[in-house]
Amino acid sequence: MSDAIENLFHEERRFDPPGKFSAEANAQSGIHEEAARDPLAFWSSEAEKIHWRKPWDRLLDSSDAPVYRWFEGGRLNVTESCLDRHVETHPDRVAFHWEGEPGDSLSLTYSELLAKVCQCAAALKQLGIGKGDTVAIYMGMVPEITIAMLACARIGAAHSVVFGGFSSDSLRERLDDASCKGVITQDGAWRRGKVVPLKENVDLALEGQETVTSVLVLERCKNEVTWSEGRDHWWHDVVPTQDDFLEAEEMDSEDLLFILYTSGSTGKPKGIVHTCGGYLTGVSSTFRNVFDIKDSDLYWCTADCGWVTGHSYIVYGPLANGATSLIYEGTPDFPDQGRWWDLVEKYAVTIFYTAPTAIRTFMKWGEEIPKSKDLSSLRLLGSVGEPINPEAWMWYHEFIGGERCPIVDTWWQTETGSIMITPLPGVTTTKPGSAATPYPGIDAVVVDDEGNEVEPGHGGLLVVRSPWPSMLRGIHGDPERYKEVYWSRFDGLYFPGDGCKLDEEGYLWLLGRVDDVMLVSGHNISTTEVESALVDHHGVAESAVVGRKDDTTGQAIAAFVVLKGGSEGSEELIQELRQHVAAKIGPIAKPASIVFTPDLPKTRSGKIMRRLLRDISEKRQLGDVTTLANSDIVEAIRDGATQSSED
Ligand code: WT7
Repeated sequence: MSDAIENLFHEERRFDPPGKFSAEANAQSGIHEEAARDPLAFWSSEAEKIHWRKPWDRLLDSSDAPVYRWFEGGRLNVTESCLDRHVETHPDRVAFHWEGEPGDSLSLTYSELLAKVCQCAAALKQLGIGKGDTVAIYMGMVPEITIAMLACARIGAAHSVVFGGFSSDSLRERLDDASCKGVITQDGAWRRGKVVPLKENVDLALEGQETVTSVLVLERCKNEVTWSEGRDHWWHDVVPTQDDFLEAEEMDSEDLLFILYTSGSTGKPKGIVHTCGGYLTGVSSTFRNVFDIKDSDLYWCTADCGWVTGHSYIVYGPLANGATSLIYEGTPDFPDQGRWWDLVEKYAVTIFYTAPTAIRTFMKWGEEIPKSKDLSSLRLLGSVGEPINPEAWMWYHEFIGGERCPIVDTWWQTETGSIMITPLPGVTTTKPGSAATPYPGIDAVVVDDEGNEVEPGHGGLLVVRSPWPSMLRGIHGDPERYKEVYWSRFDGLYFPGDGCKLDEEGYLWLLGRVDDVMLVSGHNISTTEVESALVDHHGVAESAVVGRKDDTTGQAIAAFVVLKGGSEGSEELIQELRQHVAAKIGPIAKPASIVFTPDLPKTRSGKIMRRLLRDISEKRQLGDVTTLANSDIVEAIRDGATQSSED
């Protein structure tokens, strides 16, 4: 991929871990090499760091590949690793501080959290839910979402968290697909001072729905709700009255822990299946080593529990390590654009994990905002969700990290369960824009279209050659689709769908989904590369690039650009940006058209909806836009696109 494109990722910027950081880091140099010598021994020792009621008989069973089974015969309940063992050693340590959007707050120690989880678990049992059932959780970022997830795990019920921003139709589809027996929700959720009517959406989703028998409703916004007697139960009526201890259900390592739906560019959402032992091993190991967690840290991941990042790095990874976290309910711009940095200051956050889309938004708002806050407590920064372009990386480094914090750019997926490609903060010299190298014990390489490993300096497709503990076990209810989507491209290799470039030093540069690669005059050009070059221009805050059909070149590059505050779109600027891309990458990568827009269409997890931009560019009827976080922007972009200049 992008063989013609040499310049962009060959910049000489690199950052060594600060000496003191390295000396004290959880992961020390040599860890990659040692794991590579015997990956199974590495995973076995990582698995020993979680609590097992009965050790496994067999580390890995590949007989039913590509459905792999890890720690077979091992018995555990993940909540004992996340709660009980910490209550024994440090009951009064805070598990998380929580801050509500309106400014209310709460802190829960490990012993308080265990008690609340047990009470919720007992209430679920009373509602007839038990081992083998599936419970949908449709909530905002209240403390109870974490409690609800762990309560399910406590009694051996699987959870299926559905992001609170999804519509009632999306919820219904997921309730049906997993045959959920219960739903845990809220009257409403706060979002920028307004109430999102979650209970009303649940009511709509349940019209004529046949599997759900009980709904547990937390009171949060005190908005009016309608009530179905017998089916609906207030949290405050049935949870706090329960005993504050409930024995955990003993589970098999390979029993279902949760289902989480992920949508691809086509087809119905895939219910990704994760099981107990392997998943917890993966998230607990990566959390310790990638985020370098210490007892003195205050960790904050800004994700929502509706996504896998929330599952792995708000709930299970941090709790398995006995960490103290911050959880925040609201958006970054409520009541103003300084809210996140106020929180960093207030709680003295030391480790901060967010997404490139958020970083680019803060760039657009201007560095004056973070500059006016005290961010000196921070010592480590993380990024996830998309390729982070070097420009955003540098901004994050300078204005959030104060040029002293290592940045871990972590590549992984809902399907991989835990981080797969990442720097280790005390070990790896980082290069802005590269996720560096595979995590210890992960066997990921870049291959060409035939599945052969590429030479350094070349691009291709990322694949994983060997199984890993936190890998998905399948797509709920559709074993054929599991094989087709992930295992059919190359025999025996897991194919995540991402393009990747391997540089001369063996660093991996993720290039986005391969469906997003453009073919211009016979050259593969990744959207990420052109977007990085555009954002490199001082006037540009954010950009999205798609290939649209072109009779001459096969595909032509269509760019959508969000300018930083203060910059004005003009014909001159269009020409300047085209020249800028030509200078950064090469004339072949010059966008044929550039449209200025106040925002980009994004999914609710912050990913740019390139499919929609392709439709706009090729003047097609637009498909479903209801999963967009900002559907009103589509019209504005379409108007801009019809007027855009081309040459
Ligand atoms: C896809 C997975 C993993 C939690 C959030 C997203 C892209 C993710 C990076 C990164 C480049 C990244 C990939 C991947 N992605 N992290 N650090 N650099 N790309 O989970 O919704 O399952 O999406 O996100 O394209 O395949 P997801």
